[in-house]
Amino acid sequence: MSKKICILPGDGIGPEITAEAVRVLQALELGFEMESALLGGAAVDATGDPYPEATRKLAQEADAVLLGAVGGPKWDNFPREQRPERGLLGIRKHLNLFANLRPAVLYPELANASTLKPEVVSGLDILIVRELTGDIYFGQPRGIEVRNGERFGFNTMHYTESEIRRIGRVAFGAARKRSKKVCSVDKMNVLETTQLWRDVMNELAPEYPEVELSHMLVDNAAMQLVRAPRQFDVVVTGNMFGDILSDEASMLTGSIGMLPSASLDAHNKGLYEPSHGSAPDIAGQGVANPLATILSAAMLLRYTFSLEEAARRIEDAVRKVLAQGYRTGDIYHAGDKKVGTREMGDAVLAAL
Ligand code: IPM
Ligand code: MG
Repeated sequence: MSKKICILPGDGIGPEITAEAVRVLQALELGFEMESALLGGAAVDATGDPYPEATRKLAQEADAVLLGAVGGPKWDNFPREQRPERGLLGIRKHLNLFANLRPAVLYPELANASTLKPEVVSGLDILIVRELTGDIYFGQPRGIEVRNGERFGFNTMHYTESEIRRIGRVAFGAARKRSKKVCSVDKMNVLETTQLWRDVMNELAPEYPEVELSHMLVDNAAMQLVRAPRQFDVVVTGNMFGDILSDEASMLTGSIGMLPSASLDAHNKGLYEPSHGSAPDIAGQGVANPLATILSAAMLLRYTFSLEEAARRIEDAVRKVLAQGYRTGDIYHAGDKKVGTREMGDAVLAAL
C-alpha cells in the first residue's frame, strides 16, 4: 500500500515545526511517501494564490495532509482572496474536512504552566469537535457594501440539518470511546440557526443511548470552561463558536503550543495541524515548540492510517521528554531544561 502524505509547512514558524514532525514520521520507518507544497503567505508570494493549483492537486491525491501554520502581518493588508487564511479555509472546504477534532489534554508535568490553579485543571481531558466547513465562515451573502450612504458589513450564519447531523455523529461516536458525555454548545436563545442545531442534536441522541447529551449556551460554556473545565468530555459546536472555545480550552492546558488537531472528511482523509498559529514574532529563531505538530503527526497515524500503536509511540515519547524536563520557551519554568525547536525534536527522536 502506498501511503502518501502532503506536507504544507506554511508561514512563520510553520517550516521549523513541520520539519521536526517529518523527522519523527521518518524515524518510524512506516514507508510513507512525503511531498511538500506551498500554502498561505508562502504560496501567495510564489504564485499570487494562497491555495495554488499544484497544492490542490497534491492535497487531493494524498491520503493525509500535515500542515504547519499560515499567516503573518506581511499579508494582513493584501486583498481578502490573497490572505493566507483563505488558503486554509480553501483547503478545508476543497477536501470537505467538516470534522475538526481539537483535544485539550493537560500533561501532569505542565500543570504549573496553566494560568488556572492546578486543582482546577489537573486531569483535564476535553475533546472539542468543531464543525469546520459551514456556518458564518462560509455563508453567503457576505461582504462590505455602501448602503444608504454608509458602509455596511454583513455575513450569513446558516446550517443545514444534514451538516449538523454529520458533525453530531462524529461527536457522539467519539464520546462512545471516551467518558460518554457530549455537551452541545449553541446560542438558541437568540439565533435560529442554533435552535436547529439543538433540535438536530436532540433527535440524534436516542441513537446513542449510552451517551449523555447536554446543551449549553455559548456564553455560559465560555465561563464554565474556566470555572470548572473538568465537567466537559466531548464538546460539539459550530465553526465560529468552536474557533473561539478551542482557543480558550487550549489555554487551560498551559500552552497552545502543545495541542494538535485533526480535520477529517467522511472517509478518514485528514488534515493535521497544531491548534496554534504561525507566531510570526518568533519565526526563524528556532525557539518554537514543535510538540503540537509532532502530536498532530500522531493523530494522523491514528485517524487516517489506523496505526494506533505508532501513534501511541509518538505520544509516549512526548510524555517522556516532558518528564525529562525539556521545555521550549512557551512552557518553560525556572529549573527546566530550556531547548529550541530542533533540540526538542532531537529529544523526541531519542525518546522514540
Ligand atoms: C483556526 C484558525 C483559523 C480559523 C483562521 C486562521 C482562519 O483560527 O484554525 O482556529 O478561524 O478557523
Ligand atoms: Mg482559531
